[in-house]
Amino acid sequence: MKPIYLIGFMGSGKSTIGERLCTKLDVPLVDTDQMIVDKYGPITTIFQEHGEQIFRKYETEMLKRTGGMEQIVSTGGGMVEREENVAFMTHHGLVVHLNASMNAIASRLGEDPNRPLWGKDSSERVRLYNRRKDLYTEAADATVLTDNKSIEAIAEEIADLQA
Ligand code: S3P
Repeated sequence: MKPIYLIGFMGSGKSTIGERLCTKLDVPLVDTDQMIVDKYGPITTIFQEHGEQIFRKYETEMLKRTGGMEQIVSTGGGMVEREENVAFMTHHGLVVHLNASMNAIASRLGEDPNRPLWGKDSSERVRLYNRRKDLYTEAADATVLTDNKSIEAIAEEIADLQA
């Protein structure tokens, strides 16, 4: 099995669905945000002290550790911002876009203080969502709509893509 890269906007369920998928397929889960936190500390601190571009550099560094293993990789919402990341994921695995509506995301995230790019006003959030939507669509080998579906149903759909 090739690694499965889960991409999608903040709050689209990449970590939760990744966990369920791992159990189903009996493979490990890695989370690029968690890898960054383990090596460099909290994401909010990285953004505050070093800025977004340094965070993006760390993100690419972590992604490049993931090729070639049977695993699920849950990525940060901005992984698609760099073309080299998209090329890497496409080359090494199956890229699956978890496509959640803005409404579903907004109700899931609320006012989450731990996501620096969600901390802006609502028109900026919508602008980011719309811009990213195209990036996810272009990067994905497959898209799974997640609104009104159970975690189990979504994991099943992704598992079936492997067959
Ligand atoms: C980001 C999403 C976050 C995290 C960072 C930046 C983004 O991950 O990587 O705050 O640019 O969309 P989640 O998608 O897991 O929230």
